[in-house]
Amino acid sequence: MTGLFITFEGGDGSGKSTQSALLTEWLTAQGHTVVHSREPGGTDLGVELREIILHRRGYIAPRAEALLYAADRAHNIATKVRPAIERGDIVIQDRYLDSSVAYQGAGRVLDATEVRDISLWATEGLLPDLTVLLDLSAENGRERIAATRDVYDRLEAEKNDFHERVRNSFLALAEAEPGRFIVLDATDPIETIAAAIQTRVVALLA
Ligand code: TMP
Repeated sequence: MTGLFITFEGGDGSGKSTQSALLTEWLTAQGHTVVHSREPGGTDLGVELREIILHRRGYIAPRAEALLYAADRAHNIATKVRPAIERGDIVIQDRYLDSSVAYQGAGRVLDATEVRDISLWATEGLLPDLTVLLDLSAENGRERIAATRDVYDRLEAEKNDFHERVRNSFLALAEAEPGRFIVLDATDPIETIAAAIQTRVVALLA
């Protein structure tokens, strides 16, 4: 028995957690067993790593940052995600290896293939069945975050051109793997986005 692995990607403020919560609720209501996770921070170890990665004061070298995300990912996949998929559950997760390619690859300007390969090594090659990309401009993302709080984490605090590189990288990843990705406009109404995701998930379950 194998379950499904669905990931949500997109810039900061694109509404991933809202949409992944709605999909979790919708699938659970239909009788599916859903495990929700996030990166960084889907496990107890991950919560500690998340604190270091996002809130530690001072400089973290880009390669160290990439390895910290990969360490969080390795533990999350080995102890939480892979066991759930093997039980036949549906795993819904906020962010996965595409975030590393976009943020550490395009954002920090590390080699995208090397960054992806580190994650593939960390996860023994696990790729999602479906990746939902919520596309949003850096400017819109910043406005949305600013509307809810005034403290930014290390990545959110990066300039708009960093976040534009991240956005373009996500779009290029989606274009390269159209079978795995669905790209949705994050400025559409929440219900419109949720309905589009449900349609795609129904097709996947069928
Ligand atoms: P979020 O959980 O609020 O989306 O915050 C996670 C932040 O970490 C976000 O700015 C994206 C960033 N990130 C990376 O840079 N690389 C990664 O591999 C992951 C998973 C997240």
